[in-house]
Amino acid sequence: MTHAQLELKGVSRNFGGIKAVDNVSFAVDPGRITGLVGPNGAGKTTLFNLITGGMRANSGTIHFNGREISGWAPGKVAQAGLVRSFQTAMTLPELTVREHLEQAVLFKTAGTPLSILSARKLRAARDEARTVAEDMLTFAGLADSADEVAASLPYGLQKILGVAMAIATRPRMLLADEPAAGLNGAETARMETLFRAVHNERGIALIVIEHDLPMVMRLCDRIIALSQGQLIADGTPGAVRNDPTFIEAYLGSSADAA
Ligand SMILES: Nc1ncnc2c1ncn2[C@@H]1O[C@H](COP(=O)(O)OP(=O)(O)OP(=O)(O)O)[C@@H](O)[C@H]1O
Ligand SMILES: [Mg+2]
Repeated sequence: MTHAQLELKGVSRNFGGIKAVDNVSFAVDPGRITGLVGPNGAGKTTLFNLITGGMRANSGTIHFNGREISGWAPGKVAQAGLVRSFQTAMTLPELTVREHLEQAVLFKTAGTPLSILSARKLRAARDEARTVAEDMLTFAGLADSADEVAASLPYGLQKILGVAMAIATRPRMLLADEPAAGLNGAETARMETLFRAVHNERGIALIVIEHDLPMVMRLCDRIIALSQGQLIADGTPGAVRNDPTFIEAYLGSSADAA
């Protein structure tokens, strides 16, 4: 019997009277690419916050690789191999692309404040960071921008850097929040190619929140749809695309607006 890599059971989170995430349960098998879709305010980002430890659920349990991670701090969840990237590009303006990647690795390998490491461990951590950063520069197609400060990059490359920083920590699963938001067509295609490589070449499972439905349906082998905090559809892209509840909740609102 194989175990789910990630399993949510009855997870809920309220903000005052708003049920942002309402009794959500699902399990994801190892190494899959899952899309998480739904209208604005459906609870997608809140669900990521609950899984990766930025926020506590009011009820329910979350297991990763068989261990209950509910209530764990984000650093501990990341150490266990579950990381995320963010809806907006977030970089330290004065650091170069290479330095961003090295910092991401240092955080993961050290697992402790650098100031308390021995000189030998510090050197080993630095060497590891340099090696992994060099690999990620090539893997994510950022080698030409390696020595540029992150703030000078086009927005699409800043978001690619955000994903590369998450991958640099060598997770087992990446949760990506709207990787294509704010990107033009060429940048979106580049992000999609990177995600395929993350999955096919690195064997990392992905859950991708995305409003670009054609992109997410091409990329994912399974789609989970939320509306008003509740799971309303779960299946293959083909099945969800034709699900009346999904069409009503997701496309109905934009059809009304048109
Ligand atoms: N920290 C918070 N405090 C209060 N309310 C919040 C907070 N975070 C989210 N909410 C509310 O919870 C609901 C779900 O928000 P969430 O950001 O998870 O939606 P989303 O599906 O990610 O939407 P979008 O597609 O616009 O990013 C919304 O009604 C939102 O206003
Ligand atoms: Mg969101």
